[in-house]
Amino acid sequence: MTFSREELVPVLTIDGPGGAGKGTISRLVAEQLGWHYLDSGALYRLTALAARRASIELDDANAVAALAAVLDIRFGTGTDDSVWFQGEEVSGFIRTEQAGADASIVAALPPVRDALLQRQRDFRQPPGLVADGRDMGTVVFPQAVVKIFLTASAEERADRRYKQLIAKGIDVKIGDLLADIRARDARDSQRAVAPLRPADDAISVDTTQLSISQVLDIVINKVREST
Ligand code: DC
Repeated sequence: MTFSREELVPVLTIDGPGGAGKGTISRLVAEQLGWHYLDSGALYRLTALAARRASIELDDANAVAALAAVLDIRFGTGTDDSVWFQGEEVSGFIRTEQAGADASIVAALPPVRDALLQRQRDFRQPPGLVADGRDMGTVVFPQAVVKIFLTASAEERADRRYKQLIAKGIDVKIGDLLADIRARDARDSQRAVAPLRPADDAISVDTTQLSISQVLDIVINKVREST
């Protein structure tokens, strides 16, 4: 069997529900390993932002997919987590609760997922890739060398988000955050296409009682054992 150059590049997938710490862990792992990082959720958030700005209904599958296919985006590299859309820095816009809920709506549309598939695979560049999302291990990179499924209880995720927002001076009710998290979990796991679920060969890590550095150690050790 022959492999293309791209197929030789190792991929670590980190999937799981919103707020389980995927973004934080994925960035830190990518930094430690010196690998690239794909924030696939940002692509869905940007697609929803583009649709809102173009006054397209979020459930208009073909129109939203047409936008997704030509998204003009740029990501910061390394520790720079800024995101640019058509030359404008939009990191703040896409990180709101509303943008997350919008993303979850457009992400349920099969043509949108198709339009973003190759773009996500293009992130697989030497020396390796850490891919963060919902379907990285099941659909986008089924050949990944290590697949992690990161979870935490809905209450713990709401609590973490609450602390982040309060620290930023944003006043929210924890009950509202918990309700949003449950609604998004339900939509992401019950959709027909690429629903949120662990790949059969994924390692599940429940972070409810773990610190960031404990999770980081678990993930890095798995990668070192497998590469
Ligand atoms: O990871 P996130 O919170 O930035 O993702 C926002 C939404 O995008 C999430 O609710 C579901 C969707 N998403 C997806 O369907 N598939 C992915 N690989 C990543 C995100």
